[in-house]
Amino acid sequence: MHSKWIFNQIDALQIKKKINLLDFASGNGRNSIPLSYKNFIVTAIDKDQEKLNKYENYNNINTIPFDLETEKEWPLPREFFDVIIVVNYLYRPNIKKLIDLLKKDGFLFYETFSFGNEKYGSPKNPDFLLKDGELLDIFENELVPLSFYNGKIIGKNISIKQRASFIKKTSYYKDALFKKR
Ligand SMILES: C[S@@+](CC[C@H](N)C(=O)[O-])C[C@H]1O[C@@H](n2cnc3c(N)ncnc32)[C@H](O)[C@@H]1O
Repeated sequence: MHSKWIFNQIDALQIKKKINLLDFASGNGRNSIPLSYKNFIVTAIDKDQEKLNKYENYNNINTIPFDLETEKEWPLPREFFDVIIVVNYLYRPNIKKLIDLLKKDGFLFYETFSFGNEKYGSPKNPDFLLKDGELLDIFENELVPLSFYNGKIIGKNISIKQRASFIKKTSYYKDALFKKR
């Protein structure tokens, strides 16, 4: 089952044209596959070739096997993606590189586990758990925050997650938004 929050965010954009969407650490394609039916051009990158094999032949999906946690340059074009989604993945040392991949006016939708989740299930390792407000701390200097949530998600199981959405604007716009009124 796909992430409902991600799909709600994307549906709210009411996108009518063919856009480039990056599913970062795309796993078994539970988000990439249904997004490709929306006629988006989906780039799905993950280190797990076996998972990618399951959807490498879908129309509108370009799968890229790659380890995102080395110092090697990512095989992804800069300022190319209209939308980037990241679901249930965190690797802090490289996280800010996502900003360069977004086009101006592009959107980042990020959803993953945060501290407190360890009481309910995996992941429990602090390397994979966001601190309160951490997505805002990471991105808000370069991207404009649109929404933020940190707390309990009640689904089949209970989890503690952070969900944040951002848009990439020029620095002029950001200054105008946050400077004195
Ligand atoms: C919990 S899964 C989430 C997958 C997908 N985003 C989803 O929500 O279904 C985490 C994914 O991160 C990928 N991953 C972990 N370490 C990685 C790395 N170093 N480089 C690329 N992908 C990695 C795993 O292969 C796995 O598919």
